[in-house]
Amino acid sequence: MTSKKLNISRKNFIKIIFPTLLAIFGVVGWLSGDFFGLVQKNGKKSEEKNVMIPSKNSYVLPIPMFDSNVIIEEAMAWRRSIREYEDDPILIEHLSKILWASHGINELNFEFRTTPSAGATYPLEIYVVISEYGTLIESSKYLDPGSYKYDTKTHSIELKKKGRLDKELAKASLNQEWVQKAPINIVICSMFKRTERIYGDRGKRYVHIESGHAGQNIYLMAAALNLGTVAIGAFHDDEVKNVIRADENEEPLYIMPIGIPKEPYKVFDKDILEYYEKNRQTYGT
Ligand SMILES: Cc1cc2nc3c(=O)[nH]c(=O)nc-3n(C[C@H](O)[C@H](O)[C@H](O)COP(=O)(O)O)c2cc1C
Repeated sequence: MTSKKLNISRKNFIKIIFPTLLAIFGVVGWLSGDFFGLVQKNGKKSEEKNVMIPSKNSYVLPIPMFDSNVIIEEAMAWRRSIREYEDDPILIEHLSKILWASHGINELNFEFRTTPSAGATYPLEIYVVISEYGTLIESSKYLDPGSYKYDTKTHSIELKKKGRLDKELAKASLNQEWVQKAPINIVICSMFKRTERIYGDRGKRYVHIESGHAGQNIYLMAAALNLGTVAIGAFHDDEVKNVIRADENEEPLYIMPIGIPKEPYKVFDKDILEYYEKNRQTYGT
């Protein structure tokens, strides 16, 4: 190399080389930050784990953005009861979407919800039990474990009972181990009186139907987010109520553990086509 080539003037350094170096460091820094972020998001390499203590016992969820790549037919095709999950947290953005799918507001004048309700009485109350390191807020920051109640009007969750509750919840659910192993468990509860006040005895039937709507929405949103869940109906009501610290006149109807599936379930339209064509030949239609 000649000395001429190496002779970089101070002016050139400031004008060209310095901004170029800054740009290179910027891109490298941004890339590595993102990679590390992803690794930590999967909960694999995170050295330091900080638990987030919600301010004033409530945590404001990110707004559920409409940014899924999964179409409705795929979500329906991939809905399956999944009982084995990776030992990884779920993202706060995913928790936000799951809660919104269960009972969030989607009509802004009358505050109607993502699930239909008899006479718009909205008897359901949604709780989420978060395991230790079960929900990742940002790189190595997790939501405090405990039971939280979903507030539909502000799209936030309020801490009802602090601490690790996964073991107790599994015990109340006849020791179904997927309850204990899931990073989060949604508990759909109902205040029957809200609907029975208008519809009398028939209100009970409506409430059960509504809980099915919410459960199916959770299944579909989970499938759209490549998460797995299962609807659980077998549990001791009073024990579950006690574990999540539900209000006195709220009754649990469904528990839905949610996590990253060990074996994701996928089927495609061509498989379904083949299946029906074979059946049509067999049955002569
Ligand atoms: C009302 C109801 C209660 C259920 N209770 C349980 C349960 O306690 N434990 C469980 O592992 N699965 C439970 N399931 C899930 C069913 O076992 C599952 O839906 C069924 O095997 C069909 O599988 P699929 O959901 O993948 O189509 C329940 C489902 C429903 C609809």
